[in-house]
Amino acid sequence: MTKPVILSTDPGIDDAVAISILLFDPQVDVKLIAAAAGNVGIEQTLNNVLKLEKFLGKKVPVVEGCKRALIKAPVDAASVHGKSGMDGYDFPEPDLDLLLKDTTAPEAIHKVVANSSEKVTLVGIAPLTDFALYIRLYPEDLANIEELVLMGGCIGRGNYGIYSEFNIAGDPEAAKIVFESGLKIRVAPLELGFQALVKPEISERIKSLGSVGDMFYSLFKRYRGGSFNTGLKIYDALAAGILLNPTMFDFEEAYVDIIADQGPTNGASLMDFNNKLNKPVNALIGKSVNVDEFIAWFIEAIKKTC
Ligand code: RIB
Ligand code: CA
Repeated sequence: MTKPVILSTDPGIDDAVAISILLFDPQVDVKLIAAAAGNVGIEQTLNNVLKLEKFLGKKVPVVEGCKRALIKAPVDAASVHGKSGMDGYDFPEPDLDLLLKDTTAPEAIHKVVANSSEKVTLVGIAPLTDFALYIRLYPEDLANIEELVLMGGCIGRGNYGIYSEFNIAGDPEAAKIVFESGLKIRVAPLELGFQALVKPEISERIKSLGSVGDMFYSLFKRYRGGSFNTGLKIYDALAAGILLNPTMFDFEEAYVDIIADQGPTNGASLMDFNNKLNKPVNALIGKSVNVDEFIAWFIEAIKKTC
């Protein structure tokens, strides 16, 4: 039985990898892609989703997400992904026929979930604004949500703030709503990306995997999440891996608290593995990944896209 999936994404070069893997994996049926503001502005991320689907020959409906976070001022990672958000490869024109008009991301998510005979899996690889709004607007839907798999947070030091990871820091209030929602949540924190580096020899192998492999290679040459020569951190692909091949990972239960104050810890994700806060577990954290298994899976996953 294929799992119905709704994806919230802010492509983003590592998003592009995760989107492509999810779109071609036979275990999942991606019903909707919600473009989120994050790595770059919503106009670019929306355009990138539509361009990527055109390139991949896919026809999954796309909806424009919220233009900005609930409270937080806009964040930006153009230095990592390029001004367009997917610099490095000359994509075809976007497939505008895929864009849902006269609706919002929460409403479009609700329509899929309310009409699904199977519980729907949410995948979040961007700031969590749209999923938070959805949770607040349609609480009755949550019984028909299987789980939320998200890339976000960090066990230790962050990549945005001292202790904050970009997706969580992009909308801390939204992350707080999500982690307090009661949904089953599995998390790919920053540390998994640090472990599962895509080394140059792997990128060279990927280059030979057809037009999609060549596209990824071109993006990887531009991507600044890590470095092409010492290893790329393709964070969002780890979230896809948790959904599609969870045995590669070791998980640990935690209570996750998101700091949404205005101080230097804004956007921090406190991951309490030892019940120090005396709060109930609200997430399963991917603590480690078998790197050899991940790389082998990653290459096979990309072969499926060709
Ligand atoms: O911190 C990494 C996350 O922020 C990834 O999802 C990347 O695409 C950026 O959105
Ligand atoms: Ca992302």
